[in-house]
Amino acid sequence: MGRILVVDDHESLRKGLVTALTNAGHDVEETANGTVAIERLQDSQFDVVLTDMRMGGTDGMDVLHTASKVQPHAAVILMTAFGSIHTAVEAMKIGAVDFVQKPFEIEEMELKIDKAIELRHLKHQVEYLRDSQQGQYDFDRIVGASGALQHVLGIVSKVARSNSTVMIKGETGTGKELIAGAIHHNSLRASKAFVKVNCAALQENLLESELFGHEKGAFTSADKQRIGRFEQADGGTLFLDEVGDMSPSTQAKILRVLQEHEFERLGGTRTLRVDVRIITATNRNLATMVKEGRFREDLYYRLNVVSVEMPPLRDRKDDIAALAEFFVKRYANELKKRVEHIQPDALKVMMRHHWPGNIRELENVIERAVLLTDSTSVSLADLQIGEQTSTHSGERTTVVKIPPTGIPLEEIERQAVVEALKMSNWIQKDAADLLGISPRVMNYKIKILNIEIPRSRRPASEAVAV
Ligand SMILES: Nc1ncnc2c1ncn2[C@@H]1O[C@H](COP(=O)(O)OP(=O)(O)OP(=O)(O)O)[C@@H](O)[C@H]1O
Ligand SMILES: [Mg+2]
Repeated sequence: MGRILVVDDHESLRKGLVTALTNAGHDVEETANGTVAIERLQDSQFDVVLTDMRMGGTDGMDVLHTASKVQPHAAVILMTAFGSIHTAVEAMKIGAVDFVQKPFEIEEMELKIDKAIELRHLKHQVEYLRDSQQGQYDFDRIVGASGALQHVLGIVSKVARSNSTVMIKGETGTGKELIAGAIHHNSLRASKAFVKVNCAALQENLLESELFGHEKGAFTSADKQRIGRFEQADGGTLFLDEVGDMSPSTQAKILRVLQEHEFERLGGTRTLRVDVRIITATNRNLATMVKEGRFREDLYYRLNVVSVEMPPLRDRKDDIAALAEFFVKRYANELKKRVEHIQPDALKVMMRHHWPGNIRELENVIERAVLLTDSTSVSLADLQIGEQTSTHSGERTTVVKIPPTGIPLEEIERQAVVEALKMSNWIQKDAADLLGISPRVMNYKIKILNIEIPRSRRPASEAVAV
């Protein structure tokens, strides 16, 4: 039901409309005067504006002009007297959605109003979906300035506008799906569908019916025809997630779509043609699966035209702070809480954490922290990751494993120092803290153990000297 403004100087007609529409459940306002109607449009939101064309003074055209300016989403329906069809057509050009000629049946008007409200609703939905999808996949929503991520984004922005198949590799939670979406939404196919299928979630024939559709009666439970994902993605992009988990039969069918652009629905005889770009993702080693004969080599090469490797979060520690701040903002907003920062010691522990679940794990940790915290900043206690980060879970665990052939103590020391430096993102003072030594001793160890600091981590003066 909607909010409707009825504008007509003909009192009995106006009253009749108001009664009928109110009885139908709408929220109705009325006025006999175009000038008052314009004031109402400036003050209050309406779904539908029903206006007479010719009234003394300000007429229906003026009402329409105002509505299209101040409430572009409101649907304007004009009521015209016999003989003014020409004006009505002009009005439709300006943006009226419909018109009725007087005299009319109330039922006819009700139908037009229902249609206008539904249309408005659909338009809203489409806009919302477009905004939310587009927004979610904009390149600038992909957080991270680290060299590793920028390298990925560099490849992605180069290939987005081509039709090449792209294979995105990487551990769980590294952002594979996000990158796939970014490629689609920055491609020439952006206005068409981005369709996702998780190949690991379904058994062979269910997966095939999902991908290619089926005809009625193709198998016992196929009680009606079904359009598959390839058809839905026509003109757009199909994202095959966990592509390593496909049976040989499904692999063969996908290869055929890639080569010939055609397939049949299960149980169907008609050959269908589609134009679909394929992006795949996997956290398995497909090259090894090819060697072991578990994945078709020809399909692998077809899918792997462009290959993108998502770096694990522990290899791009530079991104942790920015990602954490990003998720704090997102969840503070979502949970309607005033949480603005992360305390320095909490951030320090996050830098040391191993992040086996990568960005998804970081996102979950922050979501929980924002939910739990009583303050405006996230503290170490809110994070609940300190315990898992290292080995202090009560009793001492063995951290050094000595090979049967033995190992020089110096090598163990070297490994410990390198590990501490990596965990601290090569900040020597933090690495020293981890090992319970002073920064001076740390500096000394680095020198005598001949540990090479990555070029990007050297102090500026040294970098210049090199
Ligand atoms: N660089 C990034 N900036 C902002 N958010 C990110 C980034 N990378 C990943 N995310 C977010 O992290 C979560 C996990 O990402 P995504 O689902 O793309 O990972 P995935 O590699 O597909 O994981 P899986 O292998 O488990 O399916 C998502 O909520 C995603 O929006
Ligand atoms: Mg995924």
